[in-house]
Amino acid sequence: MAEKIIIDTDPGQDDALAILLALASPEIEILGITAAAGNVPLALTEKNIRKVCELAGRADIKVFAGCDKPMEGALVTAEYVHGWTGMDGATLPEPTMPLQDKHAVDFIIDTLMSEPEGTVTICTLGPLTNLGTALTKAPKIAKRIKRIVSMGGGLFEGGNITPAAEFNIYVDPKAAKIAFGCGAPVVILPLDVTHKVLTTKPRVAAFRDFGTPVGEAVAGWLEYFERFDVEKYGSEGGPLHDPNVIAYLLKPELYAGRECNVEVETASELTRGMTVADWWGVTDRPKNALFMGKVDADGFFALLTERLATLR
Ligand code: RIB
Ligand code: CA
Repeated sequence: MAEKIIIDTDPGQDDALAILLALASPEIEILGITAAAGNVPLALTEKNIRKVCELAGRADIKVFAGCDKPMEGALVTAEYVHGWTGMDGATLPEPTMPLQDKHAVDFIIDTLMSEPEGTVTICTLGPLTNLGTALTKAPKIAKRIKRIVSMGGGLFEGGNITPAAEFNIYVDPKAAKIAFGCGAPVVILPLDVTHKVLTTKPRVAAFRDFGTPVGEAVAGWLEYFERFDVEKYGSEGGPLHDPNVIAYLLKPELYAGRECNVEVETASELTRGMTVADWWGVTDRPKNALFMGKVDADGFFALLTERLATLR
C-alpha cells in the first residue's frame, strides 16, 4: 500500500529535489502538491512546482496555489539564497500543465475529510502557512492526519536566518505552532539533520553523470544553491534540506532522534521562530514531536541518487 502524501512546498532548489524524489518513488502516492510562499513569492513557487513536475514527465500531478503571506506579519523571502526565480542554476521551460482552481487550504481540508482517517501524511518543505490555516479553518482535520513530516527548526545547530530560528519556522511561527501543537503525530527534520548532508563535489557530479535532463538540472541547481552556505559555513558543500522529508518516508532507518516537546516562539522579537525542543526532558510539557538529530548521509545520497537516476 503506497504512502499517500500531500507535499506543501516553496521551491526552492532543495524543494525541487524532494519533489523529484517523491515522484521517483513507487512507495509514495502524491495526492497533490500545494504551493507555499517562502523562498520566493507564491506566484513563483506554484510555477516552479509545475516546472519540476513536467521535468519529471508528470503533468498529471495536481498542483494548488496556497496562501501568499504568513498567518501574521509580512512575507520574508530568500532570493539571496535561491535566486530571483527561486530555482536559479537551471532554466526550465514555462509550464503548460494546469494550476488547479481550488485553493491549497481547501484541497488540504477536502482531502483529509474524504480520505480514510489516519491515511494521509502531510509533508511540509516550507513555511507551514497552508497547513496552519487549514487547521484553523477546520480543526477537525487534525485527528484525521496520519502524521506531519516537516523540514524546519533547529536545536544544537541554532538557526539559519537568525541565530535562533530556521527559515521555514521564522517566516510563519504562528502556523508552525498550530501545526506542531494540533495533536497529529509530528516528525521534524531540523538543521541538526540537514547540516549533516552536504552537497559535496562528488555527490553533485554523480547527478550530472546521469546524462539526463533531470541530472543536468539537479547539478545546476545544487551548484547555484550551495554557494551561499559554502561561503557562510566554510563547508565542503551546502546542506541539502528538504529531500530529507521524503527520504525519511522511504527509509526512516537513515535517521535517529527522540520524542520530545517542541514549542515555537511566536512573541519574542529576538527569538521569533525558534523551535524550543526539550531534548533533555527538563520540563513536563507533552512530547509532541519526533525531533531528529542524526542521519546516515551516505545512505541518504545513495537513495537520492539511485531514485533520481530513474527519471528520464
Ligand atoms: O531553512 C531551510 C528551509 O528553508 C528549506 O526548506 C529551504 O527550501 C527553505 O524553504
Ligand atoms: Ca523549502
